[in-house]
Amino acid sequence: MTSVAAGSTRLFSDLDVEVEADAPLGPRTWFGVGGRADALVHPRSEEALATLVARCHRDGIPLRVLGEGANLLVADEGVAGVVVRLDAPCFRERRLNARGAVEGVRLMGGADLARSVLETTRAGFAGLEGLAGIPASIGGAVRMNAGGAFGSIGDRLHAVACLDRRGEVVVAPAASLNLGYRHCELPGEIVLWASFTLGEGDPVRLRAGVAEVFAYKRSTQPLAEHSAGCMFRNPRDEEVSEEVRAAFGHTPSAGALVDRAGLKGFAHGGACVSPQHGNFVVVRPGATADDILAVSRTVAERVADRFGVRLEREVVVWTRTPPEAGR
Ligand code: FAD
Ligand code: EPU
Repeated sequence: MTSVAAGSTRLFSDLDVEVEADAPLGPRTWFGVGGRADALVHPRSEEALATLVARCHRDGIPLRVLGEGANLLVADEGVAGVVVRLDAPCFRERRLNARGAVEGVRLMGGADLARSVLETTRAGFAGLEGLAGIPASIGGAVRMNAGGAFGSIGDRLHAVACLDRRGEVVVAPAASLNLGYRHCELPGEIVLWASFTLGEGDPVRLRAGVAEVFAYKRSTQPLAEHSAGCMFRNPRDEEVSEEVRAAFGHTPSAGALVDRAGLKGFAHGGACVSPQHGNFVVVRPGATADDILAVSRTVAERVADRFGVRLEREVVVWTRTPPEAGR
């Protein structure tokens, strides 16, 4: 494996990219903590990105893509290799009514989900309102199949275009992605764009829908604090014993399990379980990624001891040494 420093001339020098060496990643995540990347690269064109992806693959250099950092914990020791951020204008475009009703909206991978929700609803496109209040890039939202009680991004997805390891564009219909609860099997490493089939709606009513979803989130979640949203996926029915289901009257959410285990407010260093929502770990100034990992480990252990449910982490953790849980 070539180190980024040793190979940087070969990797970037002739490409239309901006490179930050030894770049802090913490401030680019919603947790606001964590270490550095050997190189944070901002490509200015799709061609530059494609060439970079192919070269990293050729040279065995780890490559990761950073969205809005809203579902991401970067380990304190940082990550080796290249991290790309799709923040140039060509990766943030939002094209409405690109191909009529079927593929009415095409959103680039680096576009902001919240702005996309506002823009589509304002233009009378119905279907993305349920994603209000979810901080994300389009690429990150598709990768995670982000959503909740009001629907997931995959529900309206028509097709997705990714760059594969060779830097080739692969377009795949939504039906081929095996979309499920926080699950999406992408045909390549990096989402370039996603297109959506949306309905028609009255912009005023759509905006009211957005406000309703946002109000629900604000009343139940610590939106103003530093977190990465829910730390754990909700358990499936078959992961919870009948006895526990009977005690809750239904399959409990991860937050309800943490809450009932008396863990709200549980703290380690600068990280703690939100007193407002049991599935959010929130941080105070000075917190480290290790604090967050310690809190999440203890929470998972105590919930397993008390209810026999193994909570599975939803938040993606980047460490210096792969393999890691998700990328
Ligand atoms: P990141 O956190 O930057 O990355 C997450 C993963 O996506 C990484 O593996 C990364 O490599 C990958 N990725 C990013 N961009 C791309 C790309 N272009 N191509 C391929 N892979 C990519 N989530 C929900 O589902 N529902 C909610 O209601 C919700 N509420 C939240 C509320 C708050 C306050 C916060 C902080 C988070 C919340 N989340 C929620 C979590 C988060 O918003 C989502 O998981 C979101 O989809 C993350 O998108 P991102 O762009 O920030 O991705
Ligand atoms: N609950 C408790 N105590 C808590 C938290 C929740 O008892 O501390 C109970 C609630 O009273 C409710 C149930 O658990 O009866 C579900 O709670 P909530 O409505 O808050 O939803 P959730 O299942 O915890 C899911 C998503 C959220 C999404 C919301 C709303 C997961 C892991 N989480 O949360 O997504 O915003 O629905 O749509 O699926 C995320 O994935 O990061 C995320 C924030």
